[in-house]
Amino acid sequence: MPWWLWSLVVLLIAVFVLAIHDVFQKKHAILRNFPVIGHLRYLIEKIGPELRQYIVANNDEELPFSRDSRRFIYASAKKQNAYFGFGTDNDLNQPGYVLFRHAAFPHDPPPEEDADKLKMTKVLGESHGRAKAFQPESAVFVSAMSFGSLSAPAIESLNKGSAIAGNLHNTGEGGISKHHRHGGPLIYQLGTGYFGARNPDGTFSMDRMLASMDGTDVRAIEIKLSQGAKPGLGGVLPGGKVTPEIAEARGVEVGVTVKSPSRHNSFYDVPSMVAFIEEVANASGVPVGIKSAIGEQAFWHELAEHMASTGKGPDFISVDGGEGGTGAAPLPFSDHVALPFRQGFSEVYRAFAQQGLHEQITFMGAGRLGLPTEAMVAMAMGCDGIGVAREAMIAIGCVQAQKCHDGHCPTGVATQNRWLTRGLDPTLKSVRLANYVAELRHELVRLANAMGAEHPSQVDPAKVEIRLEANHVKPIREIYGYDPSW
Ligand SMILES: Cc1cc2nc3c(=O)[nH]c(=O)nc-3n(C[C@H](O)[C@H](O)[C@H](O)COP(=O)(O)O)c2cc1C
Repeated sequence: MPWWLWSLVVLLIAVFVLAIHDVFQKKHAILRNFPVIGHLRYLIEKIGPELRQYIVANNDEELPFSRDSRRFIYASAKKQNAYFGFGTDNDLNQPGYVLFRHAAFPHDPPPEEDADKLKMTKVLGESHGRAKAFQPESAVFVSAMSFGSLSAPAIESLNKGSAIAGNLHNTGEGGISKHHRHGGPLIYQLGTGYFGARNPDGTFSMDRMLASMDGTDVRAIEIKLSQGAKPGLGGVLPGGKVTPEIAEARGVEVGVTVKSPSRHNSFYDVPSMVAFIEEVANASGVPVGIKSAIGEQAFWHELAEHMASTGKGPDFISVDGGEGGTGAAPLPFSDHVALPFRQGFSEVYRAFAQQGLHEQITFMGAGRLGLPTEAMVAMAMGCDGIGVAREAMIAIGCVQAQKCHDGHCPTGVATQNRWLTRGLDPTLKSVRLANYVAELRHELVRLANAMGAEHPSQVDPAKVEIRLEANHVKPIREIYGYDPSW
């Protein structure tokens, strides 16, 4: 046999051995799903920074998550070195740039064993006397993403990881599945489809809601009015996607198309919404909140006035920024409907602070907040809990392929395709989620300490500044019209 034929045979054997190794290893979902060829991803990832740096984008340019942001998440999740060398490569003089005013004498750091612990400062449901009011162990939580938009092993990874890191895990509007039952404490989300809590005609059923919660670790219920990426829109789950598992979690028939209306059919205005919240809270005993993207302002003022005069209403309010993520949405809704997080959140916070209610309500937020700077700004603005959705996906292996809507997610995170999901190993990925959540908390504590505060919720919004133009910076307290007494 000629030498080149020998070489070809050796090469083919090597590729075969590599393929077998890739299919059976558990560390990298992408290699299990795409043996041999999946290595290209790592090669391109490796040389991509150099290529992009000179040809395409810089470290902070890509959206939704820049290379620096993704690197922070991957490195945190893998407990690798998340430090950056040589100094910043950002232009500190560009408009919109965030600057923190550090203290001459920083606050002492917590003891090393508590360095990545960060409780929420408020007790959820305390001001309304809910039977199961509680203080969340973690100010960072996994924001709503349903089983259906995410795969079974992805949900399992998030839930197991939440159990390790001690953070809340929001079920998303698709009900509570068996993959949500791995020890992570839950926020049960009720969307307009009332999945897991619906009668066959799509109306809400309290009995079914309580039955769904039975034997689970549901700590709070969130009634979803809207989400930042697709506010004011209903949803359709095509019959083909309603597998027996999904049907069981949602309380619908296998193979039959289900529609979620664009609004709730259990209430139609502020007083009826508050009455519904009270019914759900009384029946379940857990704190009940609402989640919304921010559009019309009048609603929030009416809700704040109603709460101030009746003493009733949501225990927590989750504000979703217009920059938020989704499994699938029409582009004009993702791009143009709803305010971005900071603007929307500040409008809501002001409405409640003007009624003196801001200390009684727990504020949560989401919308690319899962990075230390963004999360710190949000907390200085009064956000008590930081929701992470796509950042949590990245922590468990998402490569921002932006294929959540077509079932072809290459990492098995946002697809129901069995070949693709089998590559995702919940035992490994849950630890990555927990590592990332812990590191985000750690960075938040360090930033707060540098600004002289013990906890990020205590950071004075006067110490967080945003550059408006080259020689002009303004504290967020002034930009967003916060009264110093708040
Ligand atoms: C795949 C996916 C599914 C989502 N499903 C829901 C959902 O069921 N209910 C909801 O309120 N928000 C849902 N969201 C929105 C997130 O909970 C979150 O509010 C938003 O993505 C902003 O957070 P992020 O920037 O950290 O992703 C989903 C987001 C993604 C990416």
